[in-house]
Amino acid sequence: MTGTCVLGVTGGIAAAKASLLASMLVKQGLDVHVIMTEAACEFVAPLTFRTLTANPVSVDMFAEPGEWNVKHVSLAEAADVFVVAPATANFIGKVASGIADDLLTTTIMATRAPRVIAPAMNSGMYANPIVQRNIETLSALGYRFIGPESGRLACGDVGAGRLAEPERILDFVLHVCAGTGRPSLAGLRVVVTAGPTREPIDPVRFITNRSSGKMGYAIAGAAAVRGAKVTLVSGPVFLPAPEGCEMVRVETACQMRDATIDAAQEADVVVAAAAVADYMPASFSESKIKKSSGFGSLELSRTPDILAELGSAKGERVLVGFAAETDDLLSNAERKLSSKNLDMIVANMVGGEDSPFGADHNTVTILCPGAPPETFPAMSKLVLAHEILDRVSAICHH
Ligand code: PMT
Repeated sequence: MTGTCVLGVTGGIAAAKASLLASMLVKQGLDVHVIMTEAACEFVAPLTFRTLTANPVSVDMFAEPGEWNVKHVSLAEAADVFVVAPATANFIGKVASGIADDLLTTTIMATRAPRVIAPAMNSGMYANPIVQRNIETLSALGYRFIGPESGRLACGDVGAGRLAEPERILDFVLHVCAGTGRPSLAGLRVVVTAGPTREPIDPVRFITNRSSGKMGYAIAGAAAVRGAKVTLVSGPVFLPAPEGCEMVRVETACQMRDATIDAAQEADVVVAAAAVADYMPASFSESKIKKSSGFGSLELSRTPDILAELGSAKGERVLVGFAAETDDLLSNAERKLSSKNLDMIVANMVGGEDSPFGADHNTVTILCPGAPPETFPAMSKLVLAHEILDRVSAICHH
């Protein structure tokens, strides 16, 4: 990802964690410029951020710049995204009240870039109705908030106030960037399935596949950041829950079927990115099967086809499937598109260097009934998720 990120750091113990975030943003390819408040400099040295970002760190509103410019204006204009992490109650209160008395508050007020705020403070302060009101005021003005998380705070209190984990902030920031300028999905109820399923053989063994859940989680996170109400039905994966989604965790294909059919009753859109096992053991052995018991063959039975079931009673719901194929990608995908009665299928080729399983990138062709196939270059699953949702939005508003 390219572009300029202004990272504001305010004065709290979590300022140390902001250095991790700065480093992650740089690794994504962003040109990161840090503005620190004077209080933040009590917790972390500007040199830390200067070293990590390879850019000068700004603190003082009236410092003589090397090259003459009005700093709060030039950084505000340069920003493609503006992140403040950690954001104190004081900072949030000042911005909500229109007070611009240092470089950070003046710059954030002058920017037109999307603004992401990650609060961190004592739990009592966070619960204070004044802080909550200020957050509501800024949210209503389009500022995006992430966290805080609950847990043990530096002051010894236990409760909400801990800075969201940098990975979580990063994922949210990338979605906000990728989703900016695209159609809003506000008002849409979206169900996404993701990950593999596990079909147990005995208490220690199961049948599964290589799906990591990344594609489905990217779609769920993208839909949520664009305002949809999202339910994510997830098989067992090792990913953090995407921001703003209702999570339903399942293990088997039968559990995924029940959870998805249930959530789909109220849904406008279902996107099935899960790699549901097609077969499950015909019976489950309560005790561990011994090698000596002739574990030579395993009788299998079919799992329910969730998407086909939804397609057979489609109604007004928009149905999006995926097809993972090793051969004849487009003809197999077309067959699934029509047999499952779908509005769209995303075809991805398995095998070779571009295999989508577990990767951060994917190369796909999108097929819709009666339309020519649309082939995309390799792109991150995060950006692809937004591309898919743009097309879903067009179908919904057709
Ligand atoms: O999770 P990642 O590591 O990010 O990898 C992403 C992915 C490769 C899993 C994803 O891009 C993908 O292709 N998902 C669908 C894989 C698949 O199982 O395809 P399929 O051709 O077997 O199934 C076709 C469609 O029917 C899929 O939308 C699937 O979710 C759905 N299906 C399949 C079987 C079943 N019993 N019920 C279903 O709903």
